[in-house]
Amino acid sequence: MKIFYILSFIVTLCKTQINMAFCDDYIEYDMNYFGKFISNAKLSNNTDAILAEKRVLIIDDELNVLSSLPIPKTQTHNCEWIFQQSSDTFFVGCQKNGESPYLIAYRSINQTHYQQFGDIVYFPNLNETIIKVTGTLNTLFTIQSKKVTLFTLVLSASDWSIKTTQNVLDKNYFARTTEINITDITLAPFIQDNLQQYKLIVVEYNLGAFWVDAVVRNNILSPFRNGLINLYYFSNYQKYYQSAVIHSTTQNVSQIVFTIFYNGNYDISIKVVYVSTYTTEVYETYQFRSNEWASWNKPILFGNLQGILRRNTLKQSIFNVYNIQIPVANAQYESNLTSPVYDPVDTFTSPPQDFAIYYFNTGYRVVHSIENNKLQSCDLYNYKLQME
Ligand SMILES: *[C@@H]1O[C@H](CO)[C@@H](O)[C@H](O)[C@H]1NC(C)=O
Ligand SMILES: *[C@@H]1O[C@H](CO)[C@@H](O)[C@H](O)[C@H]1NC(C)=O
Ligand SMILES: *[C@@H]1O[C@H](CO)[C@@H](O)[C@H](O)[C@H]1NC(C)=O
Ligand SMILES: *[C@@H]1O[C@H](CO)[C@@H](O)[C@H](O)[C@H]1NC(C)=O
Ligand SMILES: *[C@@H]1O[C@H](CO)[C@@H](O)[C@H](O)[C@H]1NC(C)=O
Ligand SMILES: *[C@@H]1O[C@H](CO)[C@@H](O)[C@H](O)[C@H]1NC(C)=O
Repeated sequence: MKIFYILSFIVTLCKTQINMAFCDDYIEYDMNYFGKFISNAKLSNNTDAILAEKRVLIIDDELNVLSSLPIPKTQTHNCEWIFQQSSDTFFVGCQKNGESPYLIAYRSINQTHYQQFGDIVYFPNLNETIIKVTGTLNTLFTIQSKKVTLFTLVLSASDWSIKTTQNVLDKNYFARTTEINITDITLAPFIQDNLQQYKLIVVEYNLGAFWVDAVVRNNILSPFRNGLINLYYFSNYQKYYQSAVIHSTTQNVSQIVFTIFYNGNYDISIKVVYVSTYTTEVYETYQFRSNEWASWNKPILFGNLQGILRRNTLKQSIFNVYNIQIPVANAQYESNLTSPVYDPVDTFTSPPQDFAIYYFNTGYRVVHSIENNKLQSCDLYNYKLQME
């Protein structure tokens, strides 16, 4: 039965992947040496870092391994997070179950090679389970279900460290009387009054999200106002919000795609108008339909392409690509009363894998993982032609 299921799955795999995209043969990487693939970060237009269980791979856009790096960790630590901090530095985040999370820094030697920079550094005064760690400029974020904590990265020529800040985005910060349940964050830069600012979206399981405006000073994000994007009364059916990606934003309008914990609901695209810290107007603009598998991890975007990964309980995954041009945040347009439902234009499938790698490359290409240690690159140039 199981064999049959896997066989029919592979047949589906071949059928769907000749839809619109042109895929290269997949490349299989040495499982013993690298371990399973976990997550990824874009380093430049043609280099990407793949965080695997045992090493970090630096690959080019043809999926060739340019170099790889060891990860200092003990058997009992998991390293699941990777993010680029500046053009020459990226970080890997690790945690032992429920205990002190830490970061490892890697800095480039040249265009193909990196090396560890300084020692591993623990987050000060934080010995609790975190959902994720990420960073932008010299601000680091630890995400926990009840709070997002901002830390400051202090970099010198030969070393680095992490400093605490006053900024804890929790129930009190957002002026809520009941506990909040944060599931993810996402952020995007914008310019206002000649100042570099960031719109930070803190996704909340029941409510939708909180928004936070932060100004950048000395490369550090400093939150100065916030409000609620209340999606709770938004439709007839309660939705549970998982993750988000900002398509575009100004200080007063954003276009955001939210993925939903599946209970029969589609993922949604919304337009948000920030009237004041008390009032936020929300318009649902599009819905993203798929099979009944739950969306999983972050939605990603590239131009008119919206990518959403979905998994079933057997950890089989499908990566859906939607071809949809979402108007830029400040564009004037008529909002439809009923938001049109979009179907994926392409679906890239994988037999069971513990994690999943999926990202867009320049030139309308998509890279996705198959099982735990294979990558495939596919060309989506049809989509681009369709838009023009
Ligand atoms: C990287 O790709 C983006 C999008 O295609 C392009 O705008 C940018 O100029 C590219 N950067 C470099 C350094 O090639
Ligand atoms: C980059 O640095 C590595 C390690 O030092 C070296 O082996 C490699 O030849 C260098 N590549 C280039 C293009 O300089
Ligand atoms: C973190 O807490 C655990 C118990 O909850 C304790 O065993 C461990 O020593 C603590 N770690 C640090 C670095 O304080
Ligand atoms: C909090 O969110 C998680 C998903 O991250 C969900 O599984 C859990 O049920 C939520 N808890 C409550 C009390 O809503
Ligand atoms: C957003 O701000 C810009 C300039 O600050 C203004 O021109 C525009 O009318 C505002 N839009 C809305 C919807 O408030
Ligand atoms: C509204 O719906 C029409 C017809 O489905 C579509 O052509 C138009 O692009 C939609 N407008 C927006 C802003 O989504």
